[in-house]
Amino acid sequence: MRILFLGDIVGKPGYSAVLKHAEELRKKEQLDALVVNAENASDGSGLMPRQYNRLLEAGVDAITLGDHIYRCREIIPVLETSKRMVKPANYPGDATGRTWTIVDTPAGPLGIISLLGRVYMRPVDCPFDAVDAALEEIGDATKHILVDVHAEATSDKQLLGRYLDGKVTAVLGTHTHVPTADAHVMEHGTAFQCDVGMSGPYDSIIGRDVRRVMKTTRSFEPCHFHVATGDIRLCGAIVESKANGHAKSIRRFEMSVSE
Ligand SMILES: [Fe+2]
Ligand SMILES: [Fe+2]
Repeated sequence: MRILFLGDIVGKPGYSAVLKHAEELRKKEQLDALVVNAENASDGSGLMPRQYNRLLEAGVDAITLGDHIYRCREIIPVLETSKRMVKPANYPGDATGRTWTIVDTPAGPLGIISLLGRVYMRPVDCPFDAVDAALEEIGDATKHILVDVHAEATSDKQLLGRYLDGKVTAVLGTHTHVPTADAHVMEHGTAFQCDVGMSGPYDSIIGRDVRRVMKTTRSFEPCHFHVATGDIRLCGAIVESKANGHAKSIRRFEMSVSE
Protein backbone atom coordinates (compact mmCIF):
# COMPACT_ATOMS: atom_id res chain seq x y z
CA MET A 1 0.00 0.00 0.00
CA ARG A 2 1.31 3.43 -0.95
CA ILE A 3 0.20 6.22 1.35
CA LEU A 4 0.89 9.95 1.11
CA PHE A 5 0.37 11.79 4.36
CA LEU A 6 0.41 15.59 4.07
CA GLY A 7 1.15 17.67 7.18
CA ASP A 8 -0.93 20.54 8.58
CA ILE A 9 -2.81 22.32 5.80
CA VAL A 10 -2.43 26.03 6.61
CA GLY A 11 -5.03 28.51 5.40
CA LYS A 12 -6.19 29.17 1.88
CA PRO A 13 -2.74 28.77 0.27
CA GLY A 14 -2.31 25.25 1.69
CA TYR A 15 -5.92 24.25 1.25
CA SER A 16 -6.13 25.45 -2.38
CA ALA A 17 -2.86 23.68 -3.22
CA VAL A 18 -4.16 20.36 -1.87
CA LEU A 19 -7.43 20.71 -3.82
CA LYS A 20 -5.51 21.58 -6.97
CA HIS A 21 -2.92 18.81 -6.81
CA ALA A 22 -4.59 15.89 -4.99
CA GLU A 23 -5.76 14.05 -8.09
CA GLU A 24 -2.50 14.53 -10.00
CA LEU A 25 -0.50 13.35 -6.95
CA ARG A 26 -2.64 10.23 -6.61
CA LYS A 27 -1.74 9.29 -10.18
CA LYS A 28 1.87 10.44 -10.26
CA GLU A 29 2.85 8.80 -6.99
CA GLN A 30 0.57 5.77 -7.59
CA LEU A 31 -1.12 6.32 -4.26
CA ASP A 32 -3.57 3.95 -2.69
CA ALA A 33 -4.36 6.46 0.04
CA LEU A 34 -4.08 10.19 0.62
CA VAL A 35 -4.36 11.31 4.24
CA VAL A 36 -4.05 14.93 5.37
CA ASN A 37 -3.84 16.82 8.62
CA ALA A 38 -6.26 19.73 8.19
CA GLU A 39 -6.26 21.37 11.64
CA ASN A 40 -5.14 24.78 10.26
CA ALA A 41 -7.16 24.85 7.04
CA SER A 42 -9.63 27.59 7.97
CA ASP A 43 -7.64 30.85 8.04
CA GLY A 44 -4.91 29.05 9.99
CA SER A 45 -7.10 27.48 12.68
CA GLY A 46 -9.71 24.73 12.45
CA LEU A 47 -11.59 23.16 9.55
CA MET A 48 -14.97 24.20 8.12
CA PRO A 49 -17.53 21.59 6.92
CA ARG A 50 -17.39 23.03 3.39
CA GLN A 51 -13.62 22.49 3.35
CA TYR A 52 -14.02 18.97 4.72
CA ASN A 53 -16.41 18.12 1.87
CA ARG A 54 -14.19 19.62 -0.80
CA LEU A 55 -11.09 17.81 0.45
CA LEU A 56 -12.94 14.49 0.20
CA GLU A 57 -14.25 15.37 -3.26
CA ALA A 58 -10.69 16.22 -4.34
CA GLY A 59 -9.51 12.70 -3.45
CA VAL A 60 -8.51 12.83 0.22
CA ASP A 61 -9.33 9.55 1.97
CA ALA A 62 -9.02 10.56 5.60
CA ILE A 63 -8.37 13.65 7.71
CA THR A 64 -6.56 14.05 11.01
CA LEU A 65 -6.66 17.20 13.12
CA GLY A 66 -4.97 18.27 16.36
CA ASP A 67 -5.16 20.84 19.13
CA HIS A 68 -7.20 23.17 16.84
CA ILE A 69 -9.79 20.47 16.12
CA TYR A 70 -12.83 22.37 17.50
CA ARG A 71 -11.68 25.90 16.57
CA CYS A 72 -14.44 26.06 13.94
CA ARG A 73 -17.45 24.87 15.95
CA GLU A 74 -19.31 24.12 12.70
CA ILE A 75 -17.16 20.98 12.28
CA ILE A 76 -18.48 19.38 15.50
CA PRO A 77 -21.68 17.90 13.96
CA VAL A 78 -19.53 16.53 11.10
CA LEU A 79 -17.15 14.92 13.61
CA GLU A 80 -20.16 13.23 15.24
CA THR A 81 -20.94 11.20 12.13
CA SER A 82 -17.89 11.22 9.83
CA LYS A 83 -15.95 8.03 9.25
CA ARG A 84 -13.24 9.94 7.39
CA MET A 85 -12.01 12.03 10.32
CA VAL A 86 -10.66 11.26 13.79
CA LYS A 87 -10.18 13.25 16.97
CA PRO A 88 -7.01 12.83 19.04
CA ALA A 89 -7.51 9.43 20.65
CA ASN A 90 -6.21 10.76 23.99
CA TYR A 91 -8.86 13.50 24.21
CA PRO A 92 -11.51 13.00 26.90
CA GLY A 93 -14.29 10.49 26.19
CA ASP A 94 -16.85 13.32 26.05
CA ALA A 95 -14.94 15.16 23.31
CA THR A 96 -16.72 14.77 19.95
CA GLY A 97 -15.19 12.49 17.34
CA ARG A 98 -13.95 8.96 16.69
CA THR A 99 -10.77 7.68 18.34
CA TRP A 100 -9.87 5.69 15.22
CA THR A 101 -11.28 4.93 11.82
CA ILE A 102 -10.69 2.60 8.91
CA VAL A 103 -10.96 3.70 5.28
CA ASP A 104 -11.05 1.44 2.23
CA THR A 105 -8.28 1.73 -0.35
CA PRO A 106 -7.49 -0.24 -3.53
CA ALA A 107 -4.77 -2.03 -1.52
CA GLY A 108 -7.07 -2.89 1.40
CA PRO A 109 -8.27 -1.19 4.57
CA LEU A 110 -6.18 1.52 6.26
CA GLY A 111 -6.57 2.41 9.93
CA ILE A 112 -6.08 6.00 11.10
CA ILE A 113 -5.26 7.17 14.62
CA SER A 114 -4.37 10.65 15.90
CA LEU A 115 -2.52 11.31 19.17
CA LEU A 116 -1.59 14.52 20.96
CA GLY A 117 1.71 14.97 22.75
CA ARG A 118 2.02 16.15 26.33
CA VAL A 119 5.14 18.33 26.44
CA TYR A 120 4.41 22.10 26.25
CA MET A 121 0.80 21.34 25.34
CA ARG A 122 -2.57 21.45 27.06
CA PRO A 123 -2.93 18.47 29.42
CA VAL A 124 -4.49 15.41 27.77
CA ASP A 125 -4.84 11.73 28.62
CA CYS A 126 -1.91 9.34 28.23
CA PRO A 127 -1.25 8.81 24.48
CA PHE A 128 0.35 5.40 25.13
CA ASP A 129 -2.77 4.07 26.89
CA ALA A 130 -5.02 5.71 24.31
CA VAL A 131 -3.23 4.13 21.35
CA ASP A 132 -3.22 0.73 23.06
CA ALA A 133 -7.00 0.97 23.47
CA ALA A 134 -7.49 2.06 19.85
CA LEU A 135 -5.27 -0.77 18.54
CA GLU A 136 -7.15 -3.31 20.62
CA GLU A 137 -10.45 -2.10 19.18
CA ILE A 138 -9.08 -2.20 15.62
CA GLY A 139 -7.88 -5.77 16.29
CA ASP A 140 -7.58 -7.79 13.10
CA ALA A 141 -9.65 -5.39 10.99
CA THR A 142 -6.49 -4.13 9.28
CA LYS A 143 -2.71 -4.48 9.45
CA HIS A 144 -2.11 -1.10 7.81
CA ILE A 145 -2.31 1.67 10.36
CA LEU A 146 -1.13 5.28 10.17
CA VAL A 147 -0.64 7.20 13.42
CA ASP A 148 -0.42 11.01 13.34
CA VAL A 149 1.50 12.16 16.40
CA HIS A 150 0.60 15.79 16.89
CA ALA A 151 3.14 17.09 19.37
CA GLU A 152 5.51 19.92 20.18
CA ALA A 153 8.56 17.98 21.39
CA THR A 154 10.61 15.70 19.17
CA SER A 155 11.31 13.47 22.19
CA ASP A 156 7.57 13.01 22.77
CA LYS A 157 7.21 11.87 19.16
CA GLN A 158 10.28 9.62 19.22
CA LEU A 159 9.01 7.86 22.35
CA LEU A 160 5.63 7.16 20.74
CA GLY A 161 7.42 6.01 17.61
CA ARG A 162 9.56 3.55 19.55
CA TYR A 163 6.56 2.38 21.57
CA LEU A 164 4.60 1.65 18.38
CA ASP A 165 7.50 0.16 16.38
CA GLY A 166 6.27 -3.10 14.87
CA LYS A 167 2.65 -2.46 15.91
CA VAL A 168 1.65 0.05 13.19
CA THR A 169 2.72 0.96 9.66
CA ALA A 170 3.78 4.54 10.29
CA VAL A 171 4.13 7.08 13.07
CA LEU A 172 4.27 10.51 11.45
CA GLY A 173 4.60 13.79 13.32
CA THR A 174 2.68 17.02 12.80
CA HIS A 175 2.02 20.31 14.68
CA THR A 176 5.42 22.06 14.55
CA HIS A 177 4.97 22.78 10.82
CA VAL A 178 8.70 22.33 10.08
CA PRO A 179 9.84 19.11 8.36
CA THR A 180 12.54 17.10 10.11
CA ALA A 181 15.30 15.14 8.34
CA ASP A 182 14.82 11.84 10.20
CA ALA A 183 12.46 9.82 7.99
CA HIS A 184 13.36 6.14 8.38
CA VAL A 185 11.94 2.69 8.95
CA MET A 186 12.59 1.60 12.53
CA GLU A 187 13.96 -1.76 13.65
CA HIS A 188 10.63 -3.59 13.86
CA GLY A 189 9.12 -2.22 10.64
CA THR A 190 7.37 1.05 11.46
CA ALA A 191 8.06 4.15 9.35
CA PHE A 192 8.81 7.27 11.36
CA GLN A 193 9.36 11.00 10.93
CA CYS A 194 9.28 13.54 13.77
CA ASP A 195 7.46 16.13 11.68
CA VAL A 196 6.41 15.85 8.06
CA GLY A 197 6.09 19.66 7.75
CA MET A 198 3.08 21.80 6.94
CA SER A 199 1.29 22.20 3.65
CA GLY A 200 1.18 25.95 3.32
CA PRO A 201 3.28 29.13 3.01
CA TYR A 202 6.90 28.60 4.07
CA ASP A 203 7.84 32.31 3.82
CA SER A 204 6.32 32.70 7.29
CA ILE A 205 6.52 31.91 10.97
CA ILE A 206 4.93 28.45 10.97
CA GLY A 207 2.46 29.65 8.34
CA ARG A 208 1.73 33.17 9.63
CA ASP A 209 2.83 36.58 8.34
CA VAL A 210 6.35 37.26 9.65
CA ARG A 211 5.91 40.99 10.38
CA ARG A 212 2.79 40.52 12.47
CA VAL A 213 4.26 37.73 14.59
CA MET A 214 7.49 39.72 15.00
CA LYS A 215 5.65 42.86 16.11
CA THR A 216 3.53 41.05 18.69
CA THR A 217 6.45 39.03 19.96
CA ARG A 218 8.59 42.15 20.45
CA SER A 219 5.93 44.63 21.60
CA PHE A 220 3.52 42.28 23.45
CA GLU A 221 0.66 44.04 21.60
CA PRO A 222 -1.76 41.36 20.38
CA CYS A 223 -2.90 41.40 16.75
CA HIS A 224 -4.40 38.96 14.29
CA PHE A 225 -1.79 36.71 12.75
CA HIS A 226 -2.68 36.62 9.06
CA VAL A 227 -1.84 33.49 7.11
CA ALA A 228 1.25 34.22 4.98
CA THR A 229 1.23 33.94 1.19
CA GLY A 230 4.78 33.22 -0.04
CA ASP A 231 6.66 30.02 -0.91
CA ILE A 232 3.77 27.59 -0.83
CA ARG A 233 4.73 23.96 -0.50
CA LEU A 234 2.97 20.68 0.07
CA CYS A 235 4.95 18.64 2.59
CA GLY A 236 4.49 15.16 3.91
CA ALA A 237 5.78 11.62 3.67
CA ILE A 238 5.16 8.74 1.30
CA VAL A 239 5.08 5.38 3.03
CA GLU A 240 5.00 2.08 1.22
CA SER A 241 3.84 -0.89 3.27
CA LYS A 242 4.04 -4.65 2.84
CA ALA A 243 1.15 -7.11 3.09
CA ASN A 244 1.93 -7.66 6.79
CA GLY A 245 1.42 -3.93 7.44
CA HIS A 246 5.09 -3.20 8.08
CA ALA A 247 6.68 -0.33 6.20
CA LYS A 248 8.93 -1.13 3.26
CA SER A 249 10.04 2.47 2.83
CA ILE A 250 9.42 6.07 3.78
CA ARG A 251 10.36 9.08 1.72
CA ARG A 252 10.01 12.74 2.61
CA PHE A 253 7.63 14.45 0.24
CA GLU A 254 7.98 18.10 -0.69
CA MET A 255 6.45 19.93 -3.64
CA SER A 256 6.70 23.62 -4.45
CA VAL A 257 3.45 25.07 -5.66
CA SER A 258 3.38 28.18 -7.82
CA GLU A 259 1.23 30.97 -6.38
FE1 LIG B 1 -0.81 22.80 12.98
FE1 LIG C 1 -1.36 21.82 16.19
